[in-house]
Parts: sequence; C-alpha cells; structure tokens
Amino acid sequence: MGRVSGKVILVTGGAMGMGRTHCELLAEEGGTVIVTDMNESEGQATADSINNAGGKAEFLPLNVTDDTNWKSVVDQVVTKHGKVDVLVNNAGILIFKAVEETTTEEWDRIFNVNVKGVFFGTKAILPAMKKAGSGSIINISSIYGIVGAPMAAAYQATKGAVRLLTKSTAVDYAQYNIRVNSVHPGVIDTAMTKDLLHGGDKESIKALMGTTILNRPAQPREVSYAVLHLASDESSFMNGSEMVVDGGYTAQ
Ligand SMILES: NC(=O)c1ccc[n+]([C@@H]2O[C@H](COP(=O)([O-])OP(=O)(O)OC[C@H]3O[C@@H](n4cnc5c(N)ncnc54)[C@H](O)[C@@H]3O)[C@@H](O)[C@H]2O)c1
Repeated sequence: MGRVSGKVILVTGGAMGMGRTHCELLAEEGGTVIVTDMNESEGQATADSINNAGGKAEFLPLNVTDDTNWKSVVDQVVTKHGKVDVLVNNAGILIFKAVEETTTEEWDRIFNVNVKGVFFGTKAILPAMKKAGSGSIINISSIYGIVGAPMAAAYQATKGAVRLLTKSTAVDYAQYNIRVNSVHPGVIDTAMTKDLLHGGDKESIKALMGTTILNRPAQPREVSYAVLHLASDESSFMNGSEMVVDGGYTAQ
C-alpha cells in the first residue's frame, strides 16, 4: 500500500486489458488515477469499480489520436489536481499481417494510435511536468519492439518506434527531472490476444507463445507491477530504459 501515494496518474486505454489492471493497481497503491479511453462505458466502469473498492479514480474520454482531445484532458486534470505526476501511454491496437498483406490504410491506422498517440500524449503532458519539476512517462512498447516475429510487420514497426521515442524523450527531458521509460510485455492474456490464445489452433498458439520459456501467457496484472515500479519513486534512477516482462521470450 502507498507506493504511489499523492501522485496523479493518467493512464490511456484504461478501460480494458492491461490498462485497466494498471489503473487498479496504481489506485490500490494510493495514486489518484485518471482513467482515459475512447470506450466510455467500460472506462467509466473501471473508474467506478476502483472508487467502490475505496480507491481514487475518475474517467475522462480520450481518443489518443486526437491532439485537441489530449490538450483538453490535460487542462482538465491540471486545473482540478494542479499537476500530473505520471503518464502511462498504454492505448494500442494490433494488426497481425506480414508486409505484403498490410494495406496503407492499416499501416496509417496503427501508426496513428500506437505512435502518434504516444507523441501527442508526451507533447501534451510535458509543459505540466516541466512546471512541476518532475515526472515519469511510461510508454508501453512490446517484445515486438525488440525482436522479430511472424505476421506483425506494422505492429512491430510501431512498437520499435515507441522504444526509441522513449529514449529520445528521456535524453531531451532529463534536465527537467522527467524520466521516460518503456515497458515490453510478452504474450499477455487480454482482449488483444483472446482470439489467438483461446480460439486458435495448437499451431497458432505455439507460434504466438514463441520462445516464452515460462510456457504460459501472463495475466495483465503481472505487467502492472512493472508499471507501478516505474510510476513510483523506487525507480528514481531509471531513465530511457526498457523493462521487459516476457516470461523469457527474448532470453534466447
Ligand atoms: N496483450 C499483449 O499480449 C500485449 C503484448 C505486448 C504489448 N501490448 C501492448 O499493451 C497495450 C495494452 O494492450 P492490451 O492487450 O491490454 O489491449 P486491449 O485491447 O485489451 O485494450 C486496449 C485498450 O486501448 C483502448 N484504445 C484503443 N484505441 C484507442 C484510442 N485511439 N484512444 C484511446 N484508447 C484506445 C481500447 O478501448 C482498450 O480499452 C497496447 O499498447 C499493446 O500494444 C500488449
């Protein structure tokens, strides 16, 4: 309890999957959590359930691809709470296709959410963090931003971009005491992987699990503990780094 007490934490894509468990754990550890998502009913439900459990959360609708929406959300949070200590750029989408099968529309759509969304969020939050003299930005990349895998060309390109946007931002903003790190989950059991993990045949499940030496997918909360560490002051000397949470996928 209390590892992020007093911190105001904005999470994107907080309605479902890992975004939701990040919100829940950060609230359990004392944070005031701003749950944001384009899915308004599920986002509100996440905030309600945190508040019912005794935590502090509120929901604000946010489509991460909309620059104006970002500015309005950050303004509202700063007006009400006076600061934003932590931003978790979690919202993302997946397209499972090789290069030849990927259309230009799909390429643009996934880059808009997975990369431009992180760029917009970072740009919107930096003035408040600079003013406060501190901040932690946590960008959710993937093992697919580190190593190659079948059938995920555009997704891998977006997650590789997030990995280095993280380091670039860390280099530029360390002077303001703003830390920027990336998290690289392996195969996690969420809506994103549901069809493959629960509806797929043995061969496609095996292909998705790849070299996960723990031989199981993770539950979302297992990744939330990495996010909690980066959100807390326990990670005060971590900057521009990559936290891999992959059951050993990238170990061999
Ligand atoms: N599930 C995995 O195995 C896995 C592995 C590595 C990395 N990741 C990454 O982790 C993050 C979360 O993944 P998940 O599996 O929890 O996904 P999920 O599909 O369960 O949830 C994604 C959430 O993002 C929201 N979202 C999508 N587009 C949005 C937009 N434009 N604006 C605002 N919100 C939007 C959705 O409404 C949803 O609530 C993503 O960035 C994903 O790429 C997932």
